[in-house]
Amino acid sequence: MIPAGAIIASYLVAGVLFILSLGGLSAQKTAKRGNLYGIIGMLLAIGATTLWITGNAEGLNTEALLSDSGTKTAFAAAIGVGALIGGVMAARVGMTSMPELVAILHSFVGLAAVLVGLSMYSNPSVDVAEKGSFVLNIEIYLDVFIGAITFTGSVLAFLKLRGSVSGKPLTLPGRHLINILMVAACVWLAIDFVPSDVNSNWEPLLWMTLIACVIGFHMVAAIGGADMPVVVSMLNSYSGWAAAAAGFMLKNDLLIITGALVGSSGAILSYIMCRAMNRSFISVILGGFGTDGGGGGGSKSQDQGEVQTFDVGEAVEAMREASSIIIVPGYGMAVAQAQHSLSQAVDFLRDKGKEVRFAIHPVAGRLPGHMNVLLAEANVDYNIVLEMEEINDDFPETDLVLVIGANDIVNPDAQEDPASPIAGMPVLEVWKSETTIVMKRSMGTGYAGVQNPLFFKDNTRMLFGDAKAVVDQLLTGLRQE
Ligand code: TAP
Repeated sequence: MIPAGAIIASYLVAGVLFILSLGGLSAQKTAKRGNLYGIIGMLLAIGATTLWITGNAEGLNTEALLSDSGTKTAFAAAIGVGALIGGVMAARVGMTSMPELVAILHSFVGLAAVLVGLSMYSNPSVDVAEKGSFVLNIEIYLDVFIGAITFTGSVLAFLKLRGSVSGKPLTLPGRHLINILMVAACVWLAIDFVPSDVNSNWEPLLWMTLIACVIGFHMVAAIGGADMPVVVSMLNSYSGWAAAAAGFMLKNDLLIITGALVGSSGAILSYIMCRAMNRSFISVILGGFGTDGGGGGGSKSQDQGEVQTFDVGEAVEAMREASSIIIVPGYGMAVAQAQHSLSQAVDFLRDKGKEVRFAIHPVAGRLPGHMNVLLAEANVDYNIVLEMEEINDDFPETDLVLVIGANDIVNPDAQEDPASPIAGMPVLEVWKSETTIVMKRSMGTGYAGVQNPLFFKDNTRMLFGDAKAVVDQLLTGLRQE
């Protein structure tokens, strides 16, 4: 038996470690340490909770928790199998599939909140006497409501990000009214549910669960291709609030702290992403933007004229002649894993006295900070990696831009065509440089599924091929003098 104070202290320490973890993750240099804090905090939390619910903590209410050996074995098996599946998934996931993994993990949080809420309602012996059923019912209702929205929304986001379901927004006529009616129905059901005795009025709770599942699905269905990054961070935030609601219901301080941290950091990230996409949060949630993207393939080119191409030799020549070069990496660089070869090419060019910098768009790739992580992994000097606001005005004075596997983030239509699905999204103005070389495999579209007029501009040259293979050839060409 360990004293109850030790469990509470462990929760507090775990909470502090989670805060330190978030602080660490905010900068590349400290990210590893931040991750480590998170791991230790989580181990501490799981350890303390295990001791508590197996009845090994003195003075804490363990009534109706894991008392018999059968339940204890099931609990141990659940942790073991969960840890194994999580470990294998994390080891196998590619950087580019990370948003999908995050989305499906959010759905687990949502589902857990729903299941815990429903089981709390069916067997409330732990708390109800102290709190009274009124407060507990509110907590259960909110927990299940947010959890159900998070669950179905995240499952659909996962399918959209994988490309298993079309990224095209589902814009039903009167969809805002449908949402309002569904939320109103949930409020109406709450009025019936909340004042009743615990475990006595299942009907409104189950109806609300069903309606909330439809709300989650409908909300994400209405959001299209290029706005999906915001959806992922928004669902991240919801999963945090679901956990916090579960924390109030279960009287678990750590769950409240962790849920609030995830909820608020997800909300802040959503806000930052919205700013990066030049969208208001409300307009993203209301949906309707974006076209049939969802996977970096999309439709093929519409006729916009002829493109001009370079072969590797011509590209090498252009790089030799340029004295200022900006590199714009995108999703294709991540897929091809071209960052290491690229880093060597950059070192070579810098040794020749050229000014070489990277321009990073806030939603380049498929997750926040995607390009920064890859470039850091390839040991590219931080000082030459610049954010969009820092470098966007420098393109007119730049001799050569190398766009490597990027598409939507350099699409001039975002500024020039108000009818474009990505209209208004800030983009890197690469076409203002003297020459732009675009490296990609084909004329295929990017995530938002729209054609890119950059490819047809007079000062653009297409260099077709897999980004890694092409960069390797460029490097070989540069070294042959
Ligand atoms: P995209 O617009 O998706 O364009 C990537 C391009 O890379 C494609 O057009 C593809 O053309 C090319 N490509 C794919 N594999 C390649 C390879 N092996 N070698 C060379 N090229 C390859 O990427 P982006 O410019 O980075 O823009 C990001 C997009 O993703 C935005 O629309 C953004 O909203 C969305 N998104 C971002 C996030 C976050 S948080 N960053 C999350 C979800 C969605 P080919 O097929 O012709 O090669």
